Amino acid sequence: MKLAWPREFPGVHHYGIEEEKAVLEVVRNRAPFRYYGLKRPKFVAALERQAREFYGARYALAVNSGTGALMTAMTALGIGPWDEVIVPAFMWVSTVGSVVSANAIPVLCEVDESFTMNCADLEKKITPRTKLIVPVHMAGAPCDMKSVMAIARRRNIAVLEDCAQCNGGSFAGQKVGTFGDVGMFSLQINKNCTSGEGGLLVSNNQQLYLQLNAAHDIGVPWIDDLPNTIAVQAGWGAGRRMSDLSGALAWEQLKKLPLIVRRMRVSKRRIKAMLATTSGLAFRQIHDRAGDTGCFLIMLLRDEQCARAASSRMSQAGLPNSRLAEYGMHIYYNILQLVKKAPLSLAGNPWNLRANARSIYSYAKGACPRSDELFARAILVPVPSVLTAQQEKAAAKIIREAVG
Ligand SMILES: Cc1ncc(COP(=O)(O)O)c(C=O)c1O
Repeated sequence: MKLAWPREFPGVHHYGIEEEKAVLEVVRNRAPFRYYGLKRPKFVAALERQAREFYGARYALAVNSGTGALMTAMTALGIGPWDEVIVPAFMWVSTVGSVVSANAIPVLCEVDESFTMNCADLEKKITPRTKLIVPVHMAGAPCDMKSVMAIARRRNIAVLEDCAQCNGGSFAGQKVGTFGDVGMFSLQINKNCTSGEGGLLVSNNQQLYLQLNAAHDIGVPWIDDLPNTIAVQAGWGAGRRMSDLSGALAWEQLKKLPLIVRRMRVSKRRIKAMLATTSGLAFRQIHDRAGDTGCFLIMLLRDEQCARAASSRMSQAGLPNSRLAEYGMHIYYNILQLVKKAPLSLAGNPWNLRANARSIYSYAKGACPRSDELFARAILVPVPSVLTAQQEKAAAKIIREAVG
């Protein structure tokens, strides 16, 4: 019999009466805009307060998506033509896309066996033009933020943490997102908690927060009731405010995030324990197991052929999985617009801006050979937040048989 595996969307499984009530309140108050309505809106502001407390950051800003959060951060951090931004080979198209949208050049960095930024390669990729490092806490687990921050601080380079896939995760007891200059989260439906669409930015730097606020909205910070034109030099905003409807959902979901993460972590730990003695099977290394949110299991097989065979057997038995090499726009060489250096507009930027014309940048398969080798023999299995003990056992059995 085929396995019945719940869809991977961790947050929506936990939608309940709380989310319903909050959304209804917005509708009844005729107050879907975050700053004013027929009655006073409250949810986005409450979400930002809650986020400050939850992540342990001095400032939090809600935006309309994770991609919007990344682009807002690029503007606030002053990334532009001439700049190189280092991103890992395993990320999401928006991570590199936000660099390109700032007319800057993405520079790829290898991943290590944790499938996050390889710090030895990071050092090698830094040049006098490196303006920003973007560690991505991929597939639920944290990067080695101690090493990333040590390198960045020594070289005086800013850090933007992409925590879209690791909401609620931590490294050495500190929440991801709070190590770098700015941290961003996504609240899209696949993420650990969700309002369907939405994003969060956190920072401990007041000036940066004001710049984020200005960049996400109207070019000057808008805090409480009135735009404040004094605190930062006026620029151009991008209309990325969060609506109070999304705020209502996100506020309730953030309260549930610890529970959701706990469920995924426990299920993942149990499945791994059942597979501990399976020969020919290894797991990705995790820099801090206590900080892993558990939403994905990444397995490493002996070689590409074994991975292909095992992946197809798992699919036949009903266990959703992806070979990392084929995991869509998460892998640099599958991002066609990157490989082809597609222009941002008909003006043809950023790679052929005169400043960037040295054609040393390559994004085709082979640009990160160490990562390519890992992707080829890695399989990713989503770990839903509502697994029963029976489903966990069935999954372990399918994986064992598929590998064997
Ligand atoms: C690593 C990573 N960064 C950024 C994003 C962008 O988030 P959103 O879909 O909310 O724009 C995603 C979402 O898929 C992601 O996985």
